Amino acid sequence: MFAKLCCVLLCSLAVSACQKAPSPPGSADLRVAELAVPDEPQLAQKYARACQTCHSSRASTAPLTGFVPDWQVRLQQGLPTLVTHAREGYKAMPPRGYCNDCSDQDLEALIVFMSSTQRAKE
Ligand code: HEC
Repeated sequence: MFAKLCCVLLCSLAVSACQKAPSPPGSADLRVAELAVPDEPQLAQKYARACQTCHSSRASTAPLTGFVPDWQVRLQQGLPTLVTHAREGYKAMPPRGYCNDCSDQDLEALIVFMSSTQRAKE
């Protein structure tokens, strides 16, 4: 009885873990992440200087730019929390992502950019 219950519990845990695991990005997603930049020139400059290094490559554990599945769970915290995490740092994410002249407004715009679908700009 106990063993059966355990099995049911473990199985349901395994299933929910599978459902939560985001699918890994494909080569097209990685290409978009490498090439996408914000339209607004000043923001593009800050993005290229600060966030892009980590958020455009799988070499980092950072959520990938333009790859929405990486961002979905994080977005559930709400944009204001993400802005706070970006400003103050969060786990392996350094405070302000090394962008000392980024205002909260800039951080918010950068997060909106990175967490939405993008197209590669050549
Ligand atoms: C040195 C590498 C690095 C740089 C530079 C960097 N990030 Fe990150 N960022 C990370 C990593 C790693 C994570 C994942 C942290 C975790 O959840 O373990 C992350 C996560 C985040 C998150 C999600 C936080 C959460 O609550 O889930 C946001 C938002 C974010 N970064 C914004 C930015 C912005 C905006 C910039 C540029 C101003 C930037 N990052 C620059 C490495 C970086």
